[in-house]
Amino acid sequence: MAVDASSVHVNLGERSYEIRIVSGGLSELPTLLPTWMDRSVYQAGSSRQAHVVTDRNVRPHADVVREGLTLTGWSCGLTELEPGEKTKSIASLSAVWDDLIAVKADRRTVLIAVGGGVVGDLAGFAAASFVRGLPFVQIPTSLLADVDSSVGGKTGINHPVAKNMLGAFHQPIGVLIDTEMLVTLPAREFAAGLAEVVKYGVILDSDYFAFLELRAEAIFRRDPGILRQVVARCCRLKADVVEKDEFERTGLRAVLNYGHTFGHAFEALAGFGELLHGEAVAIGMMYASRLAERLGLINSTVTVRQEALLNRFGLPTRLPAGWPHSVDAVVERMKLDKKTLGGHLRFVLPKRLGLVEIVNDVSEADVRAVLQCE
Ligand SMILES: NC(=O)c1ccc[n+]([C@@H]2O[C@H](COP(=O)([O-])OP(=O)(O)OC[C@H]3O[C@@H](n4cnc5c(N)ncnc54)[C@H](O)[C@@H]3O)[C@@H](O)[C@H]2O)c1
Ligand SMILES: [Zn+2]
Repeated sequence: MAVDASSVHVNLGERSYEIRIVSGGLSELPTLLPTWMDRSVYQAGSSRQAHVVTDRNVRPHADVVREGLTLTGWSCGLTELEPGEKTKSIASLSAVWDDLIAVKADRRTVLIAVGGGVVGDLAGFAAASFVRGLPFVQIPTSLLADVDSSVGGKTGINHPVAKNMLGAFHQPIGVLIDTEMLVTLPAREFAAGLAEVVKYGVILDSDYFAFLELRAEAIFRRDPGILRQVVARCCRLKADVVEKDEFERTGLRAVLNYGHTFGHAFEALAGFGELLHGEAVAIGMMYASRLAERLGLINSTVTVRQEALLNRFGLPTRLPAGWPHSVDAVVERMKLDKKTLGGHLRFVLPKRLGLVEIVNDVSEADVRAVLQCE
């Protein structure tokens, strides 16, 4: 593949940044940080103060980051949070603010997220809001965070009744992805991240989809060289979209929601933790693909290839046995999704592998028919 597996540049004018992808290279951080600061809009200087936000499960990785910084003359505080989606709350955000006040953070203090998407989203929002903006660095530790949440500058927390409802766009000054972090990631979480990886192939890049099919086995056993390529390609593809629609205004960024209209409904109905986001998206992609078949946009080969690849990655492609929720309940839930427009069901549908279109006027009858076909 043409992409340089060690670095992806996100081109956003004065908010541009580097995504550095390494295997076993966390020790590069103290060298990278001053360069990233100098290139950023933030005041460079000799403050050498950082603050790490992490969760309990990945604390050992955060400790390595802090050690590297303190050995090179940085002072580095720490906020450790409980793992899990519930951490994306006002209480955790407040805890980070309190710690930043306690260490007398100022606009040159670099906030570093070491964790999955939960830690990244929360720490990013803390960085966006504290003194109206701190320099922010992402060190993602889950595959989902590597390929999705750490790229693009969306940060935020959940409202008790609405996920991701509170937040800000706040780009990092740099992202350091170390595939070695993934060694400790539970298998189910790793597979969930692969659902988003497959998504990129379907929506934007059929060659990449074919590459995933070819190298599925090496990817599944987390071969570091292949993982660097996989992650770099996803970051490049997401960066291309974000560069054209940084603030989600033109609608282009919506293509990233392939499989998510069905997926969000399944995830919400299943209840917290029953279906991981990536698992719900994998199943959602199957329904979206079948809907595209029904509307005559694609033939069944496109669906069959997705199903086979998702299965090889250990992902579900059907709703769990004994799924108790009715078609009515799924449709109602989809209408609540904030991405529906004025109550109309809106879908990202494949036209072929590597190309999708946004369809605003899908009839409810077609959606119901697809949901009934199990
Ligand atoms: N900002 C965005 O653009 C964006 C995009 C997609 C998703 N998200 C958000 O990301 C979140 C999901 O991210 P996630 O799937 O990474 O969830 P997560 O952060 O909850 O991580 C999943 C679990 O894996 C653990 N974990 C992470 N890395 C580990 C490692 N290396 N070793 C051992 N355990 C590890 C975590 O502690 C957690 O228990 C959601 O809140 C979602 O809304 C944001
Ligand atoms: Zn997703």
